Amino acid sequence: MSAQIISGKDIAAEIRAELKESVAALAAEHGLVPGLATVLVGADPASQMYVGMKNKAAGEMGIHSRQITLDPDTSEAELLGVVAGLNADEAIHGILVQLPLPGHIDEGKVIEAIDPAKDVDGFHPVSVGRLATDSGAFFPPCTPAGVVEMLVRSGHDPAGKHVVVVGRSNIVGRPLASLLIRKGRGGDATVTVCHSRTPDLAAVTRTADILVVAMGRPEMITAEMVSAGTVVIDVGTNRVDDPASERGYRVCGDVLFDEVKEVAAAISPVPGGVGPMTITMLLANTVTSARRAAGLDD
Ligand code: GUN
Repeated sequence: MSAQIISGKDIAAEIRAELKESVAALAAEHGLVPGLATVLVGADPASQMYVGMKNKAAGEMGIHSRQITLDPDTSEAELLGVVAGLNADEAIHGILVQLPLPGHIDEGKVIEAIDPAKDVDGFHPVSVGRLATDSGAFFPPCTPAGVVEMLVRSGHDPAGKHVVVVGRSNIVGRPLASLLIRKGRGGDATVTVCHSRTPDLAAVTRTADILVVAMGRPEMITAEMVSAGTVVIDVGTNRVDDPASERGYRVCGDVLFDEVKEVAAAISPVPGGVGPMTITMLLANTVTSARRAAGLDD
């Protein structure tokens, strides 16, 4: 039997409709317009595309967006100056510096310069520490927050479930584990984190009620690694050569979809799965930041 398809595209559209309404209410009731600043250093085509998508989506929600594009040879000091200006700007509630930065700029230093109250990426060490200790106000990083939202909204609440996370990156695996073990909505799961050095990975993945894969290895999770009835979320986005395709490549996840969908209870596709959720959670964080700045949210 084929699995239920968990469509990130549909869930993202549902959340964006809710956000649009709450942004309109903020304007009508409080005269408040959430503001997102994106900073792009250089002209990397993929980064340009991502930043463009973030600004376009913000505009569609009624969120004010400002894109700052800087020359590839911008100095670290200049970039830190731009971040300081945005920290002080009351019209801006969320700051996103697109990564990767050119090699001559220390990424850690720039991330640490962002006011944690405006860190809608959730990459600042203060945000990471607050998430890990589940204390104080922080923004969850967008991709793991999107995974949790997909599970809850598709009827697969992780509470009480054994979630196996494959991948230990700072952007997905580690923060996802922290989110899933929190108390309350989207949390209360039992979590195992696996990685490239886990012996007999299949023996662990087969114990999952929910399997989340974020390794960046095309189609590495095969049907024999998944027990019948598992819920599978695929965070991977990989380009693989495909001479049969007009473009010469195709986009696939870390899960061998056609095979695994025959054993899983539910599965997210690539594309159309986690991808559309990431930008949506960035917008959600920006709206939350504006509400916090106005004293409307904790
Ligand atoms: N580069 C690729 N993904 C991201 C992201 O989520 N945030 C930032 N700031 N840069 C990225």
